[in-house]
Amino acid sequence: MRVQVAIIGAGPAGLILGQLLHKAGIDAVIVEMHSPDYVLHRIRAGVLEQVAVDLLDAAGVGARMHAEGLVHQGFDLLIDGVRRRIDLHGLTGGKQVMVYGQTELTKDLMDARRSAGLLTIYEASAVSVHDFDTDRPRVRYSKGHVSHEIECDFIAGCDGFHGVCRASVPQNAISNFERVYPFGWLGLLADTPPVSDELIYVRHPRGFALCSMRSHTRSRYYLQCPLTDKVEQWSDEKFWDELRRRLDPQTAESLVTGPSIEKSIAPLRSFVAEPLRFGRLFLAGDAAHIVPPTGAKGLNLAASDVRYLSRALIEFYTGNTEGIDRYSERCLRRIWKAERFSWWMTMLLHRFPDTNPFDQKALEAELDYVVNSVAGRTTLAENYVGLPFND
Ligand code: APR
Ligand code: PHB
Repeated sequence: MRVQVAIIGAGPAGLILGQLLHKAGIDAVIVEMHSPDYVLHRIRAGVLEQVAVDLLDAAGVGARMHAEGLVHQGFDLLIDGVRRRIDLHGLTGGKQVMVYGQTELTKDLMDARRSAGLLTIYEASAVSVHDFDTDRPRVRYSKGHVSHEIECDFIAGCDGFHGVCRASVPQNAISNFERVYPFGWLGLLADTPPVSDELIYVRHPRGFALCSMRSHTRSRYYLQCPLTDKVEQWSDEKFWDELRRRLDPQTAESLVTGPSIEKSIAPLRSFVAEPLRFGRLFLAGDAAHIVPPTGAKGLNLAASDVRYLSRALIEFYTGNTEGIDRYSERCLRRIWKAERFSWWMTMLLHRFPDTNPFDQKALEAELDYVVNSVAGRTTLAENYVGLPFND
């Protein structure tokens, strides 16, 4: 098979890129190792920046998101028992975010791809990428014990943190920057009305908690937990009890509990690979970087990478190579700002084992500053709604 762009991975990065390229008349195939069902049922985050919303509109997949997504103009910080609203809208000159589950977004993208008759090869095994240092890269994979080869102009590595693309780059051509955190997030999804109309980020001596949602009838809650914890140790009842303990009495009182639909523990990590372009191979999304979920930036960064990548490829086919030449630099400027923000929010809101007393006091002072000064709140708000593109 011969295509212009071979996309590896049908997560949000690969699917959005596929849609944007299709709109521009560029022919692309997606090669994905898992089944559509598997891809669709991964429970992930759900807060979209305005720029991500705009991109999904441009990709032609925004209709259901606008009909069913929830526009949020603020969120609450609950710090040591006191709830304070961060007025995103007021602090950023009218910006807001959209709460819409990644699962729903993935479904919309898959539906759009199917109805446009675009090819996605699911359940591809032994996927490998070759010759991306030439102008005739190739992708090989097996399906049902038959080997296949795709010849293309470009490979888009949208295959997540554990994918094959980043791993195929020569070690001496790439630098990795990483920070791991000594705790995880235990998440619970339930068909119960959310405890509040907006998200609540909680800092508590027992650890961080987050009250989020997917709709007016479906809630998503998280608790900071030790990495050694196993999901089986957390009955629903134990989860709800622990969440109540981390909330203020009034919020705890209005919490509606119910059976969980899903419960899982995720470790927290910050990671960036540099550069993001290797000849005709480009990394995008989780293949290139990971953020801890505290700032809700994972999906948004994936969207921002493929925005740059789609533009670069479209430009290339009109005879201009500037976009592909500057892809890494443009993405990384935005990535590092989101990395910094996600790390900062994580540091401010979690309980770290073994923090020295000075650092602890300094953090408390910083939080006090962030919450009680307009400049502090503005910094938080403008990063949360998403920084502008630099192009
Ligand atoms: N070959 C083919 N496909 C692969 C391979 C491989 N070797 N390895 C991984 N994949 C697929 C995975 O099965 C997955 O469907 O690549 C896809 C990567 O998708 P994501 O992990 O969702 O990554 P990305 O599209 O960059 O989306 C980032 O998703 O993980 C969240 O928080 C993250 O919200 C962010 C967003
Ligand atoms: C979520 O709803 O899953 C969610 C929301 C905000 C975050 C992280 C996760 O910061």
